[in-house]
Amino acid sequence: MISEEACTEEVSYRGKHFTIPSLESDGGIFIEPHPENSKIEVPRDSLVIQKLNSTFDLQQFKQERKPISLGLIPEDIRSTVFMPGVPRTLDLPIKFPGSNYRLPSELAHLAGVIQMVADYEAVVNKDCHDEYYCYLTVDHGLVKPGTLQREAPCHVDGFQGARWTPKVRCNHTYCVSDVIPTVYYPQPFDFDLLDEGTHNFFWEMNRQVATTNSAHVWRPRPCELTLMDCYCVHRGDECTAETLRTFIRLSFEVRIFDREGNAHNPLFSYDWPMVPRDIEALNLVPFDPDCDPSLRVFPWQQVSGEPHDDKKTRTKPNLRPQSLSEPGAK
Ligand SMILES: [Fe+2]
Repeated sequence: MISEEACTEEVSYRGKHFTIPSLESDGGIFIEPHPENSKIEVPRDSLVIQKLNSTFDLQQFKQERKPISLGLIPEDIRSTVFMPGVPRTLDLPIKFPGSNYRLPSELAHLAGVIQMVADYEAVVNKDCHDEYYCYLTVDHGLVKPGTLQREAPCHVDGFQGARWTPKVRCNHTYCVSDVIPTVYYPQPFDFDLLDEGTHNFFWEMNRQVATTNSAHVWRPRPCELTLMDCYCVHRGDECTAETLRTFIRLSFEVRIFDREGNAHNPLFSYDWPMVPRDIEALNLVPFDPDCDPSLRVFPWQQVSGEPHDDKKTRTKPNLRPQSLSEPGAK
């Protein structure tokens, strides 16, 4: 396991800071999928399953998408899977097309959950599993009230905007956190009047959720492993008390994730030129410039558009304009 003091490299651009762990090539764990061992039921009627491997299509947002539950991480491996002391590891490729899963020794404690996902993936994506990369994100840290460990605004993982022409196969992603689970909004979204080269679609997701007053909000349970696709709108949740949180994500993608700040896996031989990349650089504008300002700023911005004085402060979009606070109930 890596300790907080382990060797890390720091990368910054446009005011964002990333720490990249230095991972060892010795002693890694290689994982082979065993679909025959997966006993988790597959809901074949779920759109997430039915549209797996299809090409990204904005029209798909019109049909509500709820993540699939794979159940709770077994109790006997929870303390290992969610163990503290792991520095942030962002989008580390642990599987290449045609390869097995390769986990550097510092992340070996995650082998149990990765085996679960690999086995399930080999069942639900039997024909195309081999064609995907798999990227691992682990985020562990203290979440303070009023701050967030991860993204505040509504968004999807794997959105394909104007720079992706033609569109490629959809992303699908497995997520789990031990506390403060991600919040999902399974409701229809309509983007027919938006232009992908002009408008910020994530701000519009905020606006359409606020229009429903968050009526469709859905939260998985702590330690519940879920599978979502690139049409499952979600956001990071707030906490009311200081909380240690571990978040684990496994993204299946046909694209390379070459964003500066992503971790490098020494168990594979590859040399991708890493590039600064963020949505801010696209200079997108809100579709509705008159909507509540909290719905159309980046988290690091105050509603005036100015950066927060405290870099850890994040603007929370007002997604329940008809009440005083977000619902705490599941
Ligand atoms: Fe996300």
